[in-house]
Amino acid sequence: MKTFYKTSELVKHIKELKAQGKTIGFTPTMGALHNGHFTLVKRTGEENDISVCSVFVNPTQFNAASDLDKYPRTLESDAAGLESIGCDILYAPTEEEIYPNGSDYEVEVDLNDLDKEMEGAHRPGHFEGVVQVVKRLIEVTSCDKLYMGQKDFQQFTIIRQMIKDLNIDTELVVCPIVRDEDGLAQSSRNVRLLPKHRKKASIIHRVLEQAQQWINEGRSPIEITYKAMEYLEIPGFKPEYFDIVDGKTLKKITSSEKVDLIVACTAVWAGDVRLIDNMVLKGTL
Ligand code: PAF
Repeated sequence: MKTFYKTSELVKHIKELKAQGKTIGFTPTMGALHNGHFTLVKRTGEENDISVCSVFVNPTQFNAASDLDKYPRTLESDAAGLESIGCDILYAPTEEEIYPNGSDYEVEVDLNDLDKEMEGAHRPGHFEGVVQVVKRLIEVTSCDKLYMGQKDFQQFTIIRQMIKDLNIDTELVVCPIVRDEDGLAQSSRNVRLLPKHRKKASIIHRVLEQAQQWINEGRSPIEITYKAMEYLEIPGFKPEYFDIVDGKTLKKITSSEKVDLIVACTAVWAGDVRLIDNMVLKGTL
């Protein structure tokens, strides 16, 4: 595996690879890599000549400085993990390498209000930061395919819209959520869960499954949301939202009849760790 810290050196190397006709697959991450990331990177390697993975904790997508400070930084073990699964290129830039002219600008893109719901409503400015960094990373890596996880459902929906709106010549590939045995979605934040919260965190997946059963039984999304919020309110846990949305527009739905893709998305505080998860209740991504 080759590691690049300097953008100009990576750009030069990728140019050479492209001149040899190689295809580039790219997985953006903020590090603290777990199985979910490794699954994405492995798939990137299987479906492209060259797999590139970035590790960059992007400050512009954090709306709370304390969350940015607490975000785990484990570059050494991330690099070892990537090497062991056969990743070809690790890109680990500094902030100056990503934002050479400063990060104080917004990418002009029509997101069709996809950034207003759910995470967008609870984390002001978050998606502006994600769009900004992913656009920059796509430019730097010139990737043919971009790999993102379904766990961040709203994130990949927004990136898909950005790619479409800006006419970017990159295909977005969405990979299924990787879960622990008890159903908890794998996330870099899970390591911060207290043992007492970790033990009970599978409640989130169980409630999503319950929601799926209720949708299949024809129960109303409003009633399901209400019940799910109630179920998630266990000691130490605080659900922030449990929205049942049209998977294309991300708008909450009131009836499931005329909607092809229905997704339940939730954010739950387990102690002081904020977990998100989702499940497709009807249709396919
Ligand atoms: O999902 C993440 O880890 C981040 O939002 C991403 C896509 C790497 C952008 O910083």
